Amino acid sequence: TPLTIAIDGPSGSGKSTVARAVAERLGVGYLDTGAMYRALTWWCLERGTDLADVAAVAQAARTLPLDLGTDPGEVRVTVDGTDVTAAIRTTEVSTAVSAVATNREVRPVLQQRQRDLMASIAQRTGGVVAEGRDITTVVAPDARVRVLLTASEEARLRRRSTELHGDADASSLEATRDQVVRRDRDDSTVSRFDEAAEGVTLVDTSDLSLEGSIEAVLDVVAG
Ligand code: CDP
Repeated sequence: TPLTIAIDGPSGSGKSTVARAVAERLGVGYLDTGAMYRALTWWCLERGTDLADVAAVAQAARTLPLDLGTDPGEVRVTVDGTDVTAAIRTTEVSTAVSAVATNREVRPVLQQRQRDLMASIAQRTGGVVAEGRDITTVVAPDARVRVLLTASEEARLRRRSTELHGDADASSLEATRDQVVRRDRDDSTVSRFDEAAEGVTLVDTSDLSLEGSIEAVLDVVAG
């Protein structure tokens, strides 16, 4: 049976970097489900779809011409032939994405696409590491390995600040706070990370280095 690994966590938990590294070391494919919500958000903004129009955004989710790279070493995201790998990480998209992700008609559409992608990646590469916010609970509760990566708010702020601004001094931390704390709050109706669901292993990365976090997850995989 394929090695399916589900990793959830809030922003700044190190989830994306850790998930990619784990997939690379195990030689299996990778699915970034956050990139799907981001790509959909980018496409709606690009086409002028009103993000408050629940049915219109859900229809966009059904027809989104998305091509998502699954090689953990080089993740490219393409929408309708346009490379949006960088465009989906802009502040504009990060600010708007929660409105799309909390759309109740959108979620089941993308969740089903994620299940289909996980199955086809696993078939092709012998396994898959899928990361997001509801993979362990909704998308793939039957995954062989399920991990919830957490970190203190302080640690998450520091990491995201270094990622976005190159440092974590007082002004960079302040500039990052809105992104991290506000988005967590906006996302809290679809995902809460105060405790791990039954059967999910909690890994707190607050005091772990990147390498330490990767090894902690590989330990869970090894059982
Ligand atoms: O930048 P960060 O790692 O925090 O987030 P991401 O993984 O790129 O996901 C971006 C956004 O997509 C999140 O803030 C959620 O609103 C949404 N998302 C979701 O609702 N469910 C998922 N499985 C993955 C992402």
